[in-house]
Amino acid sequence: MNANELKSLFRQQAQGALALNIAYIGVVNGLFSTLHELGKAPAPALAKAAKVDPGYVKRWCDAAYAFAYLDADGDEFILTSTGQAMCPEAPDTLMPLAVQSVLSAHMAERAAGLMRTGERPGEGVLAERETVLPWFGPMLEANFASLFESTICGAVPEFAAVDARGGLAVDLGCGNGWYLRALARRFGKLRGLGIDGFEENVRQAEGAALKAGLAHRLKFIQGDIHALVLDEPADLIAMNRALHHVWEKDTDALFTWLRANLKPSGYVAIWEPAWPADRAALRDPGRRAMAFQNLTEHVQGNHFLRPDEIEAAFARAGMQSQRYLFVQGNEAIVVAHAA
Ligand SMILES: C[S@@+](CC[C@H](N)C(=O)[O-])C[C@H]1O[C@@H](n2cnc3c(N)ncnc32)[C@H](O)[C@@H]1O
Repeated sequence: MNANELKSLFRQQAQGALALNIAYIGVVNGLFSTLHELGKAPAPALAKAAKVDPGYVKRWCDAAYAFAYLDADGDEFILTSTGQAMCPEAPDTLMPLAVQSVLSAHMAERAAGLMRTGERPGEGVLAERETVLPWFGPMLEANFASLFESTICGAVPEFAAVDARGGLAVDLGCGNGWYLRALARRFGKLRGLGIDGFEENVRQAEGAALKAGLAHRLKFIQGDIHALVLDEPADLIAMNRALHHVWEKDTDALFTWLRANLKPSGYVAIWEPAWPADRAALRDPGRRAMAFQNLTEHVQGNHFLRPDEIEAAFARAGMQSQRYLFVQGNEAIVVAHAA
Protein backbone atom coordinates (compact mmCIF):
# COMPACT_ATOMS: atom_id res chain seq x y z
CA MET A 1 0.00 0.00 0.00
CA ASN A 2 1.41 3.44 -0.86
CA ALA A 3 1.29 6.43 1.52
CA ASN A 4 -1.90 7.88 0.00
CA GLU A 5 -3.70 4.54 0.15
CA LEU A 6 -2.63 4.13 3.78
CA LYS A 7 -3.91 7.63 4.64
CA SER A 8 -7.21 6.94 2.94
CA LEU A 9 -7.58 3.64 4.82
CA PHE A 10 -6.86 5.26 8.20
CA ARG A 11 -9.18 8.20 7.43
CA GLN A 12 -11.96 5.71 6.80
CA GLN A 13 -11.19 3.99 10.09
CA ALA A 14 -11.12 7.37 11.89
CA GLN A 15 -14.57 8.14 10.47
CA GLY A 16 -15.79 4.88 12.00
CA ALA A 17 -14.58 6.08 15.40
CA LEU A 18 -16.25 9.49 14.91
CA ALA A 19 -19.51 7.79 13.93
CA LEU A 20 -19.45 5.84 17.21
CA ASN A 21 -18.56 8.97 19.23
CA ILE A 22 -21.57 10.83 17.83
CA ALA A 23 -23.75 7.80 18.52
CA TYR A 24 -22.47 7.66 22.11
CA ILE A 25 -23.61 11.23 22.80
CA GLY A 26 -27.06 10.34 21.48
CA VAL A 27 -27.27 7.05 23.40
CA VAL A 28 -26.36 8.39 26.84
CA ASN A 29 -28.70 11.38 26.48
CA GLY A 30 -31.64 9.29 25.29
CA LEU A 31 -31.79 11.07 21.92
CA PHE A 32 -32.22 7.93 19.80
CA SER A 33 -34.87 6.51 22.13
CA THR A 34 -36.73 9.84 22.39
CA LEU A 35 -36.77 10.41 18.64
CA HIS A 36 -37.95 6.83 18.20
CA GLU A 37 -40.92 7.64 20.47
CA LEU A 38 -41.61 11.00 18.82
CA GLY A 39 -41.29 9.58 15.30
CA LYS A 40 -40.38 12.93 13.78
CA ALA A 41 -39.29 16.17 15.49
CA PRO A 42 -37.32 19.39 15.04
CA ALA A 43 -34.21 19.71 17.23
CA PRO A 44 -35.82 21.99 19.89
CA ALA A 45 -38.72 19.54 20.40
CA LEU A 46 -36.30 16.62 20.63
CA ALA A 47 -34.23 18.55 23.20
CA LYS A 48 -37.36 19.34 25.24
CA ALA A 49 -38.64 15.77 25.21
CA ALA A 50 -35.19 14.36 26.11
CA LYS A 51 -34.74 17.06 28.80
CA VAL A 52 -31.36 18.22 27.47
CA ASP A 53 -29.96 21.51 26.22
CA PRO A 54 -31.37 22.70 22.86
CA GLY A 55 -28.10 24.31 21.75
CA TYR A 56 -26.19 21.05 22.07
CA VAL A 57 -29.01 19.05 20.47
CA LYS A 58 -29.06 21.37 17.43
CA ARG A 59 -25.34 20.64 16.83
CA TRP A 60 -25.78 16.94 17.57
CA CYS A 61 -28.62 16.65 15.06
CA ASP A 62 -26.41 18.13 12.32
CA ALA A 63 -23.61 15.70 13.15
CA ALA A 64 -25.98 12.71 13.48
CA TYR A 65 -27.46 13.70 10.12
CA ALA A 66 -23.94 13.85 8.59
CA PHE A 67 -23.24 10.31 9.84
CA ALA A 68 -26.64 9.12 8.56
CA TYR A 69 -28.22 8.32 11.92
CA LEU A 70 -30.90 10.90 11.05
CA ASP A 71 -32.77 11.89 7.92
CA ALA A 72 -34.28 15.36 7.61
CA ASP A 73 -37.59 16.65 6.29
CA GLY A 74 -37.16 20.43 6.39
CA ASP A 75 -36.43 21.23 10.06
CA GLU A 76 -37.70 17.88 11.29
CA PHE A 77 -35.54 14.84 11.92
CA ILE A 78 -36.37 11.13 11.80
CA LEU A 79 -34.20 8.12 12.64
CA THR A 80 -32.66 6.20 9.75
CA SER A 81 -32.46 2.41 10.08
CA THR A 82 -28.95 2.85 11.58
CA GLY A 83 -30.34 5.41 14.03
CA GLN A 84 -33.06 2.91 14.99
CA ALA A 85 -30.41 0.24 15.54
CA MET A 86 -28.60 2.58 17.99
CA CYS A 87 -31.65 2.72 20.28
CA PRO A 88 -30.60 0.78 23.40
CA GLU A 89 -34.06 -0.87 23.43
CA ALA A 90 -33.71 -2.17 19.83
CA PRO A 91 -33.30 -5.93 19.47
CA ASP A 92 -29.62 -6.62 18.81
CA THR A 93 -28.84 -2.93 19.50
CA LEU A 94 -25.58 -1.34 18.26
CA MET A 95 -25.39 0.62 21.54
CA PRO A 96 -22.52 -1.50 23.03
CA LEU A 97 -20.23 -0.47 20.16
CA ALA A 98 -20.84 3.22 20.86
CA VAL A 99 -20.25 2.83 24.60
CA GLN A 100 -17.17 0.66 24.06
CA SER A 101 -15.64 3.20 21.67
CA VAL A 102 -15.73 6.02 24.22
CA LEU A 103 -14.68 3.76 27.09
CA SER A 104 -11.75 2.55 24.95
CA ALA A 105 -10.65 6.11 24.21
CA HIS A 106 -10.77 6.95 27.92
CA MET A 107 -8.79 3.84 28.86
CA ALA A 108 -6.26 4.47 26.09
CA GLU A 109 -5.60 7.96 27.42
CA ARG A 110 -5.18 6.61 30.96
CA ALA A 111 -2.86 3.79 29.79
CA ALA A 112 -0.78 6.31 27.81
CA GLY A 113 -0.12 8.40 30.92
CA LEU A 114 0.23 5.55 33.42
CA MET A 115 2.78 3.70 31.31
CA ARG A 116 5.36 6.27 32.43
CA THR A 117 5.10 5.34 36.10
CA GLY A 118 3.74 1.80 36.02
CA GLU A 119 0.89 2.79 38.37
CA ARG A 120 -2.22 0.57 38.10
CA PRO A 121 -5.06 2.50 39.73
CA GLY A 122 -7.65 -0.32 39.66
CA GLU A 123 -11.37 -0.61 38.95
CA GLY A 124 -12.04 3.02 39.87
CA VAL A 125 -10.78 4.12 36.44
CA LEU A 126 -14.06 2.85 34.96
CA ALA A 127 -15.98 5.31 37.10
CA GLU A 128 -13.93 8.34 36.07
CA ARG A 129 -16.33 9.18 33.22
CA GLU A 130 -19.69 9.91 34.77
CA THR A 131 -21.64 9.29 31.56
CA VAL A 132 -19.94 5.91 30.93
CA LEU A 133 -20.47 4.19 34.29
CA PRO A 134 -24.29 3.77 34.03
CA TRP A 135 -23.86 2.18 30.59
CA PHE A 136 -21.32 -0.39 31.66
CA GLY A 137 -23.92 -2.96 32.77
CA PRO A 138 -26.33 -2.46 29.87
CA MET A 139 -23.37 -2.72 27.44
CA LEU A 140 -22.32 -6.09 28.87
CA GLU A 141 -25.91 -7.31 28.96
CA ALA A 142 -26.46 -6.34 25.31
CA ASN A 143 -23.19 -8.04 24.35
CA PHE A 144 -23.59 -11.31 26.21
CA ALA A 145 -27.11 -12.05 27.51
CA SER A 146 -28.49 -13.39 24.25
CA LEU A 147 -25.35 -15.51 23.67
CA PHE A 148 -25.88 -17.03 27.11
CA GLU A 149 -29.58 -17.65 26.64
CA SER A 150 -29.55 -18.82 23.03
CA THR A 151 -26.35 -20.87 23.01
CA ILE A 152 -24.36 -21.34 26.20
CA CYS A 153 -27.05 -22.27 28.71
CA GLY A 154 -28.34 -25.16 26.59
CA ALA A 155 -24.88 -26.37 25.56
CA VAL A 156 -23.40 -26.68 29.06
CA PRO A 157 -25.07 -29.72 30.66
CA GLU A 158 -24.29 -28.60 34.21
CA PHE A 159 -26.90 -25.83 33.84
CA ALA A 160 -29.61 -28.50 33.39
CA ALA A 161 -28.41 -30.06 36.65
CA VAL A 162 -28.67 -26.65 38.36
CA ASP A 163 -32.22 -26.34 37.01
CA ALA A 164 -33.16 -29.75 38.40
CA ARG A 165 -31.83 -29.08 41.90
CA GLY A 166 -32.71 -25.39 42.29
CA GLY A 167 -31.31 -23.74 45.42
CA LEU A 168 -28.94 -20.77 45.64
CA ALA A 169 -26.94 -19.27 42.75
CA VAL A 170 -24.28 -16.72 43.71
CA ASP A 171 -22.94 -14.36 41.05
CA LEU A 172 -19.60 -12.78 42.04
CA GLY A 173 -19.06 -9.46 40.20
CA CYS A 174 -22.65 -9.49 38.96
CA GLY A 175 -22.69 -6.18 37.05
CA ASN A 176 -26.30 -5.17 36.37
CA GLY A 177 -27.53 -8.66 37.34
CA TRP A 178 -28.57 -9.81 33.85
CA TYR A 179 -27.17 -13.31 34.40
CA LEU A 180 -29.12 -14.03 37.59
CA ARG A 181 -32.27 -12.64 35.94
CA ALA A 182 -31.74 -14.98 32.98
CA LEU A 183 -31.20 -17.98 35.29
CA ALA A 184 -34.19 -17.13 37.50
CA ARG A 185 -36.49 -16.76 34.47
CA ARG A 186 -35.44 -20.18 33.16
CA PHE A 187 -34.99 -22.11 36.40
CA GLY A 188 -38.09 -21.71 38.56
CA LYS A 189 -36.59 -23.26 41.73
CA LEU A 190 -33.47 -21.08 41.80
CA ARG A 191 -32.79 -18.14 44.13
CA GLY A 192 -29.95 -15.71 43.44
CA LEU A 193 -27.47 -13.54 45.31
CA GLY A 194 -25.37 -11.08 43.30
CA ILE A 195 -22.46 -9.07 44.64
CA ASP A 196 -20.67 -6.21 42.90
CA GLY A 197 -18.19 -3.55 43.92
CA PHE A 198 -19.98 -0.67 42.19
CA GLU A 199 -23.08 0.77 43.88
CA GLU A 200 -24.40 1.87 40.47
CA ASN A 201 -24.42 -1.77 39.26
CA VAL A 202 -26.21 -3.00 42.37
CA ARG A 203 -28.85 -0.27 42.05
CA GLN A 204 -29.45 -1.21 38.40
CA ALA A 205 -29.58 -4.93 39.26
CA GLU A 206 -32.18 -4.34 42.00
CA GLY A 207 -34.28 -2.13 39.73
CA ALA A 208 -34.21 -4.60 36.84
CA ALA A 209 -35.10 -7.56 39.11
CA LEU A 210 -38.05 -5.59 40.46
CA LYS A 211 -39.22 -4.68 36.96
CA ALA A 212 -38.93 -8.33 35.88
CA GLY A 213 -41.01 -9.49 38.86
CA LEU A 214 -38.04 -11.43 40.27
CA ALA A 215 -37.16 -9.28 43.27
CA HIS A 216 -38.52 -11.89 45.72
CA ARG A 217 -35.97 -14.44 44.42
CA LEU A 218 -32.95 -12.25 43.64
CA LYS A 219 -30.91 -10.23 46.10
CA PHE A 220 -28.03 -7.90 45.22
CA ILE A 221 -25.43 -6.45 47.56
CA GLN A 222 -22.53 -4.06 47.17
CA GLY A 223 -19.28 -5.52 48.45
CA ASP A 224 -15.90 -7.05 47.80
CA ILE A 225 -15.68 -10.58 46.40
CA HIS A 226 -12.71 -11.17 48.73
CA ALA A 227 -14.76 -10.37 51.84
CA LEU A 228 -18.02 -12.19 51.06
CA VAL A 229 -19.52 -14.34 53.79
CA LEU A 230 -22.43 -16.55 52.67
CA ASP A 231 -25.29 -17.51 55.01
CA GLU A 232 -25.55 -20.91 53.32
CA PRO A 233 -23.43 -22.89 50.84
CA ALA A 234 -24.33 -22.32 47.20
CA ASP A 235 -25.61 -24.73 44.56
CA LEU A 236 -23.98 -22.64 41.83
CA ILE A 237 -21.27 -19.99 42.09
CA ALA A 238 -20.81 -18.04 38.87
CA MET A 239 -18.26 -15.47 37.78
CA ASN A 240 -18.80 -13.88 34.39
CA ARG A 241 -15.91 -11.75 33.18
CA ALA A 242 -15.11 -11.18 36.84
CA LEU A 243 -12.38 -13.74 37.62
CA HIS A 244 -9.70 -11.79 35.76
CA HIS A 245 -10.60 -8.80 37.99
CA VAL A 246 -9.56 -10.64 41.13
CA TRP A 247 -6.97 -13.09 39.77
CA GLU A 248 -3.89 -11.05 40.60
CA LYS A 249 -4.85 -10.59 44.25
CA ASP A 250 -4.76 -14.11 45.72
CA THR A 251 -5.94 -16.72 43.25
CA ASP A 252 -5.52 -19.80 45.41
CA ALA A 253 -7.34 -18.23 48.37
CA LEU A 254 -10.26 -17.39 46.06
CA PHE A 255 -10.46 -20.93 44.64
CA THR A 256 -10.29 -22.39 48.15
CA TRP A 257 -13.20 -20.07 49.08
CA LEU A 258 -15.16 -21.23 46.02
CA ARG A 259 -14.81 -24.86 47.03
CA ALA A 260 -15.56 -24.18 50.69
CA ASN A 261 -18.77 -22.28 49.89
CA LEU A 262 -20.22 -24.83 47.48
CA LYS A 263 -22.68 -27.61 48.36
CA PRO A 264 -21.00 -31.01 47.84
CA SER A 265 -22.73 -31.57 44.48
CA GLY A 266 -22.79 -27.92 43.41
CA TYR A 267 -20.96 -26.25 40.53
CA VAL A 268 -18.71 -23.28 39.94
CA ALA A 269 -19.16 -21.76 36.46
CA ILE A 270 -16.51 -19.33 35.26
CA TRP A 271 -17.01 -17.39 32.02
CA GLU A 272 -13.96 -15.57 30.72
CA PRO A 273 -12.64 -14.28 27.41
CA ALA A 274 -10.19 -17.01 26.32
CA TRP A 275 -6.73 -15.47 26.01
CA PRO A 276 -4.94 -17.53 23.34
CA ALA A 277 -1.82 -19.55 24.09
CA ASP A 278 -0.31 -18.45 20.78
CA ARG A 279 0.24 -14.70 20.21
CA ALA A 280 -0.30 -15.13 16.46
CA ALA A 281 -3.99 -15.83 17.20
CA LEU A 282 -4.36 -12.18 18.31
CA ARG A 283 -4.09 -11.08 14.66
CA ASP A 284 -7.47 -12.67 14.04
CA PRO A 285 -9.89 -9.70 13.65
CA GLY A 286 -12.21 -11.46 16.15
CA ARG A 287 -9.50 -11.24 18.83
CA ARG A 288 -8.08 -7.75 18.23
CA ALA A 289 -10.51 -6.06 20.60
CA MET A 290 -9.47 -8.57 23.29
CA ALA A 291 -5.81 -7.64 22.74
CA PHE A 292 -6.62 -3.94 23.13
CA GLN A 293 -8.77 -4.61 26.18
CA ASN A 294 -6.00 -6.57 27.86
CA LEU A 295 -3.90 -3.40 27.94
CA THR A 296 -6.79 -1.49 29.50
CA GLU A 297 -7.29 -4.37 31.96
CA HIS A 298 -3.68 -3.83 33.03
CA VAL A 299 -4.64 -0.29 34.10
CA GLN A 300 -7.26 -1.87 36.39
CA GLY A 301 -4.78 -4.36 37.88
CA ASN A 302 -6.06 -7.26 35.76
CA HIS A 303 -5.09 -9.40 32.81
CA PHE A 304 -6.94 -11.93 30.69
CA LEU A 305 -6.50 -15.63 31.39
CA ARG A 306 -5.93 -18.73 29.31
CA PRO A 307 -8.57 -21.39 30.01
CA ASP A 308 -5.84 -23.83 31.10
CA GLU A 309 -4.74 -21.41 33.84
CA ILE A 310 -8.29 -21.46 35.24
CA GLU A 311 -8.41 -25.26 35.06
CA ALA A 312 -5.06 -25.48 36.86
CA ALA A 313 -6.36 -23.22 39.65
CA PHE A 314 -9.39 -25.51 40.08
CA ALA A 315 -7.12 -28.55 40.19
CA ARG A 316 -4.98 -26.94 42.92
CA ALA A 317 -8.18 -26.39 44.93
CA GLY A 318 -9.08 -30.09 44.56
CA MET A 319 -11.82 -29.53 41.98
CA GLN A 320 -12.49 -31.23 38.66
CA SER A 321 -13.23 -28.95 35.77
CA GLN A 322 -14.56 -29.13 32.25
CA ARG A 323 -13.96 -26.51 29.54
CA TYR A 324 -16.51 -25.41 26.94
CA LEU A 325 -15.56 -22.98 24.16
CA PHE A 326 -17.87 -20.69 22.16
CA VAL A 327 -17.59 -17.93 19.53
CA GLN A 328 -14.67 -19.41 17.56
CA GLY A 329 -12.93 -20.31 20.80
CA ASN A 330 -12.95 -16.72 22.11
CA GLU A 331 -15.36 -17.32 25.01
CA ALA A 332 -14.51 -19.99 27.60
CA ILE A 333 -16.85 -21.47 30.18
CA VAL A 334 -15.00 -23.55 32.75
CA VAL A 335 -17.34 -25.51 35.01
CA ALA A 336 -16.05 -27.28 38.10
CA HIS A 337 -17.23 -29.42 40.99
CA ALA A 338 -15.53 -30.88 44.01
CA ALA A 339 -13.35 -33.82 43.00
C1 LIG B 1 -16.50 -7.07 33.32
S1 LIG B 1 -17.63 -6.81 34.60
C2 LIG B 1 -18.74 -8.20 34.42
C3 LIG B 1 -20.09 -7.92 35.02
C4 LIG B 1 -21.10 -9.05 34.89
N1 LIG B 1 -20.65 -10.28 35.51
C5 LIG B 1 -21.46 -9.32 33.45
O1 LIG B 1 -21.12 -10.38 32.94
O2 LIG B 1 -22.10 -8.44 32.85
C6 LIG B 1 -16.74 -7.25 36.05
C7 LIG B 1 -17.51 -6.91 37.29
O3 LIG B 1 -16.80 -7.37 38.43
C8 LIG B 1 -16.96 -6.40 39.47
N2 LIG B 1 -15.84 -6.58 40.39
C9 LIG B 1 -14.53 -6.57 40.09
N3 LIG B 1 -13.78 -6.78 41.19
C10 LIG B 1 -14.66 -6.93 42.21
C11 LIG B 1 -14.52 -7.18 43.60
N4 LIG B 1 -13.31 -7.32 44.17
N5 LIG B 1 -15.63 -7.29 44.34
C12 LIG B 1 -16.86 -7.14 43.79
N6 LIG B 1 -17.06 -6.90 42.48
C13 LIG B 1 -15.98 -6.79 41.70
C14 LIG B 1 -16.94 -5.09 38.73
O4 LIG B 1 -17.56 -4.07 39.50
C15 LIG B 1 -17.71 -5.42 37.46
O5 LIG B 1 -19.08 -5.15 37.56
